[in-house]
Amino acid sequence: MPVDGLIATQSRHAHALLAHYRAHARILPWRSPPGAALPDPYRVWLSEIMLQQTTVAAVIPYYDRFLARWPSVEALAAAPDGDLMAAWAGLGYYARARNLLACARHVAQHLGGRFPSEEADLRALPGIGAYTAAAIAAIAFGRRAVVVDGNVERVVSRLFAVETQMPAAKPELRALAETITPERDAGDFAQAMMDLGATICTPTKPACLTCPLADMCAARAQGTPERYPIRAVKKPRPTRAGTAWWVESDGAVWLVRRPDKGLLGGMLALPTSDWHEGAPAMALPDLPGGWQRLNQSVRHVFTHFALELGVARLRLGAPGDPARLANALGDGQWWPLERLAQAGLPTVFARAAQVAMEKAAMEKDGDE
Ligand code: ADE
Repeated sequence: MPVDGLIATQSRHAHALLAHYRAHARILPWRSPPGAALPDPYRVWLSEIMLQQTTVAAVIPYYDRFLARWPSVEALAAAPDGDLMAAWAGLGYYARARNLLACARHVAQHLGGRFPSEEADLRALPGIGAYTAAAIAAIAFGRRAVVVDGNVERVVSRLFAVETQMPAAKPELRALAETITPERDAGDFAQAMMDLGATICTPTKPACLTCPLADMCAARAQGTPERYPIRAVKKPRPTRAGTAWWVESDGAVWLVRRPDKGLLGGMLALPTSDWHEGAPAMALPDLPGGWQRLNQSVRHVFTHFALELGVARLRLGAPGDPARLANALGDGQWWPLERLAQAGLPTVFARAAQVAMEKAAMEKDGDE
């Protein structure tokens, strides 16, 4: 039982979780150790944007590289768009990279390089939604904020055995998370919940024996933690098909920049046909020389569909008229093959490029 008001301000859940966090917090490059001084908001912001829909393991090398290259929000704000997009290549969800730059420039130019500490002000910045605003307010500024991502939803749905189906349960889960969020140490608490969700209260096979909240968990008491959160049966993800066009001339390949809005927006890419469900479009652009369809394709899973991308290859004797190429393939540029790694192609195109180049290398071997 609580003995005074001070203890009563912290839920049993928070008390047990914070004690566990102090002993077991994951050591991550953007984190201050539990109870230590608050970390640099720039680092917290950068890490939280990268961690949206992306695992800690995938983020760490990108975070380290970004921080070494752009150690402050002013440095990042001064980065050319192309450099930033190329440095982000492979991390996915490319709208984040465009928003990252827009946000850095806003903070550097209009806020004196200082991130705001209030959730509402943070939310007004590009790329910062409710979750990220709460995370930055709590972790970088020690504000009491209710930080709810998918991991936290899973933990809370189990703690309280919430029977409402997702996503309708979201407001209820948020309200429950709020009841256990402490007044102080909100940043440690938020990160402790994230760690719990990532390492103990996992989607399948949760490690309840090591969970500091096991004796408070309603789902565990029922013996069915994996049932939560309750989800509707998922529709299978559709597959779309298309063809990537690898057009090579004089040691260079034709690359296009994808439109800013939409999937892989703003990134350099191989030109492609449209992508459709069902059979891929067979037509190839009208260019001189013979197209070769390669017998290997690349499969890539996006959030709402999977893409099966065939690869067709064409070698032009001479680079030809750029206007004609732009007309056939989309506005673009010749990119030297020896510098292809620096183009920062998104993973799906980097893999298609690899298919085309392996084919070229095999032909070369055959010639010798
Ligand atoms: N996922 C999102 N934010 C995180 C953080 N600060 N620590 C660990 N995982 C996270």
